[in-house]
Amino acid sequence: MEYRRLGSSGLQLSALSFGAWVTFGNQVDRSAAREMIALAWDHGVNFFDNAEGYANGEAERVMGDAIADLRLPRDGYCVSSKVYFGSAKEPRPTQKGLSRKHVVDACHDALERLRVDYLDLYFCHRPDPDTPIEETVRAMDSLVQQGKVLYWGTSEWSAAQIREAHKIARLRNLQPPTMEQPQYNLLHRDRVEREYAPLYAEYGMGTTIWSPLASGLLTGKYASGVVGDGRLARDGYGWLQKLVVGDPAEHRIERARRFTLLARELHVAPAALAIAWCLRNPHVSTVMLGASRVEQLRENLQAPALLERLEAAQWQRVEAATAR
Ligand SMILES: NC(=O)c1ccc[n+]([C@@H]2O[C@H](COP(=O)([O-])OP(=O)(O)OC[C@H]3O[C@@H](n4cnc5c(N)ncnc54)[C@H](OP(=O)(O)O)[C@@H]3O)[C@@H](O)[C@H]2O)c1
Repeated sequence: MEYRRLGSSGLQLSALSFGAWVTFGNQVDRSAAREMIALAWDHGVNFFDNAEGYANGEAERVMGDAIADLRLPRDGYCVSSKVYFGSAKEPRPTQKGLSRKHVVDACHDALERLRVDYLDLYFCHRPDPDTPIEETVRAMDSLVQQGKVLYWGTSEWSAAQIREAHKIARLRNLQPPTMEQPQYNLLHRDRVEREYAPLYAEYGMGTTIWSPLASGLLTGKYASGVVGDGRLARDGYGWLQKLVVGDPAEHRIERARRFTLLARELHVAPAALAIAWCLRNPHVSTVMLGASRVEQLRENLQAPALLERLEAAQWQRVEAATAR
């Protein structure tokens, strides 16, 4: 496993990490979750991602119990949480968003569920139009000062919002955000490659990128339509299907189909190829994997080997196959 610095911080994260969205506390049972964490750990994964909103907090409980069960050394792994959506099914006004109150309450809840004394990474899961950015920066800074959070960051904030947080932190001598958690994959590139381009050098911003497989679309499993037992076909995930399959004008199913045909021609698993492509971007600190089965994770963990196996011309074909 390769380890990469989280932006300009000194934290070394494994280039592949593992997250709990949709799966823990929901699609996978506790024993599969434990097996996947053990498998990831055995492959050198040292970062496990979570959020208050995943399965209404249950994903954090499952992950915390599995890590405790496996007796992973606290100084050997990193764990995250994210605040914004709330963990209650129908959160009250003070149980969601980025107010100082909720940022602090959600941190305490995550610490308890994940069974740790501090969060290595703590993200604002979305921008909150109802809270001044200064209030959130101050809340994060105070958690850092108390040793409850080591590095704080944002997820899907605009470049302008991230700049604003840095300006406030610099002006008030507060801890600035260290990292952003954006979506990044062959079908969704603009924000990481264009919008954020100046931020990497300007602020030493790290990225923990999500949905490297576009929720499974890049594995080719939806080539003949959104059917089967995959995430996009699950009850209650129609909203995600709309987002991932997108506007017909974007031809995302067709682009994924071209990509999987090419992967077959190159004799590589499409999932590993799509993940390896993300790793080629030096601004990516870690690619967060998701899996609903142990075999999927095992396949995805093979991605780094492709970096050496494929040549520049083959990577160009990958880009051409997924172009609009
Ligand atoms: N900050 C944010 O807003 C945000 C948003 C989303 C995710 N995240 C984080 O990023 C992590 C990864 O994101 P993601 O889960 O969306 O990643 P992804 O890699 O795009 O999708 C993972 C899903 O694809 C399917 N899959 C994975 N490997 C496969 C394989 N080899 N063959 C066939 N199907 C395969 C599985 O779902 P099925 O088997 O059900 O099809 C799996 O759960 C999450 O767990 C979470 O921690 C953060």
